[in-house]
Amino acid sequence: MARITGGVTTSHVPAIGAAIDQGKTDTEYWAPLFAGYEWSKKWIANEKPDVIVLVYNDHASAFSLEMIPTFAIGCADEFPIADEGFGPRPVPTVKGHADLACHLAQALILDEFDMTVINQMAVDHGLTVPLSLLFGQPEEWPVRVVPIAVNVIQYPPPTGERCFKLGQALRRAIESYDEDLNVQVWGTGGMSHQLQGPRAGLINQEFDNNFLTKMADDVDELRAIPHLEYLREAGSEGIELVMWLIMRGALGDTVSPLHRFYHVPASNTAVGHLVLGVPEESK
Ligand code: DHB
Ligand code: FE
Repeated sequence: MARITGGVTTSHVPAIGAAIDQGKTDTEYWAPLFAGYEWSKKWIANEKPDVIVLVYNDHASAFSLEMIPTFAIGCADEFPIADEGFGPRPVPTVKGHADLACHLAQALILDEFDMTVINQMAVDHGLTVPLSLLFGQPEEWPVRVVPIAVNVIQYPPPTGERCFKLGQALRRAIESYDEDLNVQVWGTGGMSHQLQGPRAGLINQEFDNNFLTKMADDVDELRAIPHLEYLREAGSEGIELVMWLIMRGALGDTVSPLHRFYHVPASNTAVGHLVLGVPEESK
């Protein structure tokens, strides 16, 4: 049976990808940010997951405003790197796990989560920056990825509660896959940031730190946060945080915070990163 062995959340700021690709990780601006991922890089090298179910949002790279699925799952064998205006990032093509992804699509849809099935999709910074943060610059990614894309671009996005419940269903779906696979679930995006309008540049450290704490301690409080509160407290792009709740729902009732990092700012964004462990017996 496939098992969920841990989870990661991280912001996915595109400038972080550019800093890696351009060899700027040691500069005064960037070094403190990358230091916050050193522990996680060692942890994941030890954990050696087979597959990451990676929850992220497309930023009008694969989807346009013509078609916006609320929840989509990538069932392809591979996902090319999107060109976001400066050419595709110089990172390896992302290898999928079509058999697991098709199983998850079926299990989730029969469990009443109407996923959009995606058989061809380029992936943008929302997916590749987290991979770079945890795996550096390998020739090939050492893991297969099942992308789950969530609409947080065009209102209305799904509620945090709906995302949490999708995570719970995702756990059931993963655990009903026969092959013995070591699976991690990641949630990306956040933390507080606003890229446009009069409040552009908004950062709310108090909101973010409470969110980081409650991801382990009291997720019920986070499940109840309404859209307007995300907007008011965490800025228009802070709504990306609902994706962390999919990861959290998938990890089960009890998690242990293994690593926590918070850094302000990277580009326009407060960067938050958590590694959450699950009880040994459920691994
Ligand atoms: C920035 C952050 C994001 O999450 C994103 O998707 C795009 C830009 C930023 O801080 O610049
Ligand atoms: Fe984003």
